[in-house]
This record gives sequence, C-alpha cells and structure tokens, in this order.
Amino acid sequence: MPEADPAALARLATRRSVKAELLREPGPDEATLHAMLDVAMRVPDHGKLGPWRFLILRGEARAAAGEVLARCFRAREPEADDAAVAFERGRFERAPVVVVVVSSPNARAVKIPMWEQQLSSGAACQNLLNASLFAGFGAQWLTEWYAYDDDVARGLGLTADERVAGFVYIGSASDAPEERTRPDYASRVIEWKGAGS
Ligand SMILES: Cc1cc2nc3c(=O)[nH]c(=O)nc-3n(C[C@H](O)[C@H](O)[C@H](O)COP(=O)(O)O)c2cc1C
Repeated sequence: MPEADPAALARLATRRSVKAELLREPGPDEATLHAMLDVAMRVPDHGKLGPWRFLILRGEARAAAGEVLARCFRAREPEADDAAVAFERGRFERAPVVVVVVSSPNARAVKIPMWEQQLSSGAACQNLLNASLFAGFGAQWLTEWYAYDDDVARGLGLTADERVAGFVYIGSASDAPEERTRPDYASRVIEWKGAGS
C-alpha cells in the first residue's frame, strides 16, 4: 500500500515552473539527469509502447541546435533583422540543459489511440518537471514556435511521424517564482450526480 507522504504532497501543491530566462548553471549532473529521465519515463503508457523519446541538449549542442532554429526562423521570416535571428539562435542557451520530449507514437499499435500515446508524452513532460523540482532544479515546459515547425523537427532529427511534446528547460533557479493565479477549485471540480450537475 502507498504510504501517505504529506511533505511531498505539500511540495507538489506549491509547485511552480521557473522561467527559462531564470535558469542558471549548474544544471543537473550526468547521474542526476539520468535519474530524472528515468522518472520522466515512468508514466502511464497504454499498451507499454513507450511512445516517446528524449533528446538532451547541453553544452555546445545547444548552440548547434540554435543554428537549426536560426536557419528555420530565417526561412519563415525572411525580413527578420539580425538581432531577431540572433535571439532565436540563442534560445536553447537560456538554460544549462534542455530536454526535447519527443512524442513518438507507434502507428501500428492500432488498438491504442494516437491521442492516448500523445497524452503519455505530456505525462512524461510533467514527470520531468516534477523530477526537476525534487532534484532541486527549476524547470519550464515550453513549445514556443519551434515545436510546431516541421523544418526544426527534421533539423533536430525527428521522423515524419514524430512531433515535439515539449522543450523542458532545466537549471538552477536564480529567483524563487511568485505564486500565480490559479483556477478556482469550484469552477473546475464538481461532484457528478447526473448529467447537468
Ligand atoms: C504544452 C505546453 C506548452 C507551453 N508552452 C509555453 C510557451 O511556449 N511559452 C510560455 O510562456 N509558456 C508555455 N507554457 C506554460 C509554462 O510551461 C508554464 O505553465 C507557465 O510558465 C506557468 O506554469 P506553472 O503553473 O507550472 O508555474 C506551456 C505549457 C504547456 C503545458
């Protein structure tokens, strides 16, 4: 039986993302990142398909991936000035580690709806955020424009069947995030007692 862990529950109840711009060195070391990605993969997964994979961007690879962004951004926005292109080139260098969570569904697994396979990738993103929190790091799940750009996907090595579920930026938080407004409990939660309740 699971044991109650009120401290963990309280920690999750105050969980917040830390903006990528506020994530500094150091990032997680090799062993810690490995452990965090093990947690990311420990998600519900209908059919045991493992319909996701992870690309780690760190060190100089962030700049190399940034070149992909710069190239694709120029193709989308031919009128963009050099400053705008430089901004795009530097996006992945906002944090020490960026994990690209790739939704990699198995189209042959016809009994498992695509939607469920994609949801499992979302769960992997959230597990990675929570693993970051408990490992003592800040993290933010971003998509921005480049999660939806086919040329970026190909440039990062995704296949035509894959898409980015999220770029999870991870590092040491330079500032504690402030609380943000949350949806009111009663506006989102009802005790169902029949249709129309
Ligand atoms: C799928 C997904 C994509 C997101 N993409 C962006 C984004 O591109 N830009 C952004 O500012 N926030 C984005 N967010 C929101 C942040 O990850 C985060 O929710 C927000 O910073 C505050 O969240 P918190 O409640 O975890 O603190 C995204 C969230 C999700 C779930």
